Amino acid sequence: MRKINCIGILTSGGDAPGMNAAIRAVTRAAIADGFKVMGIYKGYEGLVNNEIKEFSTENVSNIIQRGGTILKTARSKEFMTEEGRKKAYDNMIKNGIDALVVIGGNGSLTGARIFAEEYDVPCIGLPGTIDNDLNGTDSTIGYDTTLNTIMECVDKIRDTATSHERIFFVEVMGRDAGFLAQNSAIAAGAEAAIIPEDSTGADQLESFIGRGIRKSKSSSIVLVSESPSCGAMYYAERVKKEYPEYDVRVSILGHLQRGGSPSAGDRILASRLGVGAIRAIQEGQRNVMIGIKNDEVVYVPFSNAIKSDKPVKKELIDALAVLSI
Ligand code: F6P
Repeated sequence: MRKINCIGILTSGGDAPGMNAAIRAVTRAAIADGFKVMGIYKGYEGLVNNEIKEFSTENVSNIIQRGGTILKTARSKEFMTEEGRKKAYDNMIKNGIDALVVIGGNGSLTGARIFAEEYDVPCIGLPGTIDNDLNGTDSTIGYDTTLNTIMECVDKIRDTATSHERIFFVEVMGRDAGFLAQNSAIAAGAEAAIIPEDSTGADQLESFIGRGIRKSKSSSIVLVSESPSCGAMYYAERVKKEYPEYDVRVSILGHLQRGGSPSAGDRILASRLGVGAIRAIQEGQRNVMIGIKNDEVVYVPFSNAIKSDKPVKKELIDALAVLSI
């Protein structure tokens, strides 16, 4: 195996609070172990276009508390092509980069897996996404902060819901995963969550209404996972039509969910994963995502991490149903 002297680091896909804490941890752990570190800007796009500069420990000072990513990020179309990846590889060689640490979600780790296979480049992934949809890790960087942000928004929306006796459908992000909707519903004391993973076949709106919530409560809050065809607007329209006696409103939280200073949980997670990434490189690991499972740092092969079947625990679905009576 070729000796690794220089590690390139990039953030890719949607930004997530805690990415900066991860950049800091990878950079400092690498420098502490005698590696050279190269910061790659705008995700894979910066590798393709050679937007790369050497990082010292000072480059990552005063960033642990900042949201977004100082390295910037992108969803690179060019890197999805063979020509793009060839350019990226050539730039790696030109800059003397021997291994890559990629901080990102499903798409970004899929890119790392393809690149690592094509060019025999050691790649280590860190789960960086608010969606929490990567397998093999209990949580992803950004998820906890976003849950807290949603919870605070719902606490505020509740003031209007209660005062006007309304049903609010609050749409949250998550791409194809319902972790944000389900757990923010529990944290905010909402009446229901409508999530893609609920595959009971039942109409989730009917079961919410059918639980008789409106009989005992004068207002309700329902968290809805984003969806192109059946997001919050879809359910609000249905209620207006099917239950015209209810006063319905919609709040789509949008990108405010992705911003802000990371929570302590995300900073600690990102720091542990960053240190774990350098340890993994030292141990000769490649093509694995670093995760934390049952409070232990684990190495998860990319192919397992990116399988899009991470389950939302039935226990959480049952808990919300019980707690919202
Ligand atoms: O993957 C993170 C995420 O915020 C998803 O929850 C959401 O579907 C998507 O990114 C939004 O992407 P963009 O910022 O490109 O609109």
